[in-house]
Amino acid sequence: MRQIPARLLLCALLIGCKSKEQSGGGTGGGQGTIVVGEVGSMTGTEATFGVSSDRAIQLASSELNAAGGIRGKQIQIIALDDEGKPEEAATAATRLIASEHVIALLGEVASTRSLFMAPKAQANKVPMVSPSSTNPKVTQVGDYIFRACFIDPFQGYVMAKFVHDNLKLSKAAILKDVRNDYSVGLAQNFTESFVRMGGKVVANESYSNGDVDFKAQLTNIRNAHPEVLYVPGYYTDVGLIARQAREAGITAPMAGGDGWDSEKLYEIGGAALEGSYFSNHYSVDDPSPRITEFVARFKKAYGGQLPDSLAAQAYDAAGMLFDAMKRATELTGPAIRDALAQTKGYKGVTGDITMDQNRNASKPAVVLKVGKGGKYEFQGRIAPEDTATGAPEGSPKKTEGNTAPNPAPGNVPTPTPMPELGATSPAAAAANTGQPQGVPSGEHPKK
Ligand code: PHE
Repeated sequence: MRQIPARLLLCALLIGCKSKEQSGGGTGGGQGTIVVGEVGSMTGTEATFGVSSDRAIQLASSELNAAGGIRGKQIQIIALDDEGKPEEAATAATRLIASEHVIALLGEVASTRSLFMAPKAQANKVPMVSPSSTNPKVTQVGDYIFRACFIDPFQGYVMAKFVHDNLKLSKAAILKDVRNDYSVGLAQNFTESFVRMGGKVVANESYSNGDVDFKAQLTNIRNAHPEVLYVPGYYTDVGLIARQAREAGITAPMAGGDGWDSEKLYEIGGAALEGSYFSNHYSVDDPSPRITEFVARFKKAYGGQLPDSLAAQAYDAAGMLFDAMKRATELTGPAIRDALAQTKGYKGVTGDITMDQNRNASKPAVVLKVGKGGKYEFQGRIAPEDTATGAPEGSPKKTEGNTAPNPAPGNVPTPTPMPELGATSPAAAAANTGQPQGVPSGEHPKK
């Protein structure tokens, strides 16, 4: 576990004022400060997940502090890098709770790492909000664990529906990461929905996160002649798999989930990914005012960089936590927990957030296509329906309550293709080329 480099100064300052923080009692911070912990993969094979989330959390807290903080106190974020390792995520959570006396935790992004953190938060009555861990088990750890995103029974349904109804494909192969709860769960959720719709899974193969040679699995997949290859993994593996799939002679489009979202995806997979699709939490090209305003603020803070969905989700997770802290009867874990549980219609960038009784958010998902040069093309938005609670599906409701007038294509069950909205600006197009952009990792907006 490492404190991220740009945080060294902040870290030094915090160490310098730790005794003051400890004397702050109850609020997790010293006089005038409320300390919130953050755990993320700032380095490692999923580094963009942690860095993107961190930037958005810093932005949210700077904005809050500029507006006066909470009850006259400023928020201080202490972020720890878990290097993408589950055990490190658990250690980081423990350290933030025991040594830094944080009042709440933000993170992790990856479901497996959230599952390692959550028992520490629960046992210590420290509310934890995961921005974008989508595996249902995460919030099942206990009543102190929340998330700002939808869950995978819905996400799996969304891509099954898109593949079946919009792409009109009915033979899928699956290649999942067996060491990743998210990947295993999403593969299963996709399969259940796809088969229910009349689709068939013709090959089901596995790999382990960090593998670099997928030839054996891809040969089996090619021999099964799928029309689509569903790979619910993280971007580094997905990029490599895309290249090797094409080398193995598989021409079918690939499909996947939010774990694809990274500026690195296309850098790694290149043209092999073009014409593939993935489900996600938001589209940077969504013309709704909440999104365009957030995108503008994020770009301003980070040298023109566009926020990916990790950033949008983390911004909402932080905002949702701050909102609960303002409403809490007092600044203690149990009171913040109660306020979080009562979150209703919080106006997030990614949609209105209401906590259900399982501490999950019910929000629409978008489908993006990887276009030429790696640009993400917005295919449409699908609203949650009862699959979001894991129940058998009904028909999806129309999208509402999110953000704005959305040309809102693709509210299934229309069997017609979703209109392609595409990127609307040259900047948006440039941002999705997979080129590294913006400020160096770990830089934060000026306070
Ligand atoms: N949903 C993924 C998981 O639970 C994490 C993720 C979210 C990755 C958003 C990318 C974008 O593991």
